[in-house]
Amino acid sequence: MSLSVNNAGLLEHNRVTTSEGFELNFAVNVLGTYAMTELMLPLLEKATPDARVITVSSGGMYTTPLTKDLQFSDGNFNGVEQYGRNKRVQVALTEKWADINKNKGIGFYSMHPGWAETPGVAKSLPSFSKALSGKLRTNEQGADTVIWLALQPKEKLVSGAFYFDRAEAPKHLLFAATSRSHTEIDSIYDTLSSLSRTSA
Ligand SMILES: NC(=O)c1ccc[n+]([C@@H]2O[C@H](COP(=O)([O-])OP(=O)(O)OC[C@H]3O[C@@H](n4cnc5c(N)ncnc54)[C@H](OP(=O)(O)O)[C@@H]3O)[C@@H](O)[C@H]2O)c1
Repeated sequence: MSLSVNNAGLLEHNRVTTSEGFELNFAVNVLGTYAMTELMLPLLEKATPDARVITVSSGGMYTTPLTKDLQFSDGNFNGVEQYGRNKRVQVALTEKWADINKNKGIGFYSMHPGWAETPGVAKSLPSFSKALSGKLRTNEQGADTVIWLALQPKEKLVSGAFYFDRAEAPKHLLFAATSRSHTEIDSIYDTLSSLSRTSA
């Protein structure tokens, strides 16, 4: 079995740019996920039929539709909103990868780990972390569905789906009006390809 897990992520409240000029949340949460996965695809293909990509998204994505403003260039920057937008892109990218690679035997899954007491949450959401201290998930509980997705027989999983607590979960909340926005993923995919310069 060959497995790639996109777990690295952050929530930066200020509009910080990397040395390459990318907005930081976008660079780590989206462009990193895109580039790592695209670069891994040839290796994953060699490992089929049991090759998988698991992307750790977040329930924060429920609040926001997919937008082409990937680096939050328009309007007043809001790190929490940007994080939600990034996590929405990860869910839509997972669908896109599942679609374009459907004959290659690689499974693509996105997931929400639940709210866990991690250094990242303590740093980025200190009031939330303090208020819910002891009530949030442990690291092990947060990692549970990632491990489950890695070990389940592939026939029991749905490539392109979003998972929470060892089960497929909806990608859109009722009345949130986010589902139509996923049609933007083709142009976002092209933008990511050109920004990461991984295309031929
Ligand atoms: N904790 C939650 O409640 C929660 C809820 C929903 C989703 N998530 C998602 O779960 C994942 C893990 O988050 P966490 O809560 O465990 O956060 P965390 O404690 O801050 O861990 C984040 C991880 O990302 C890595 N990382 C951050 N920036 C990086 C960069 N520029 N380059 C390489 N690696 C980088 C960190 O590496 P270093 O340690 O080397 O910096 C660390 O291993 C994230 O994708 C997050 O969005 C978490």
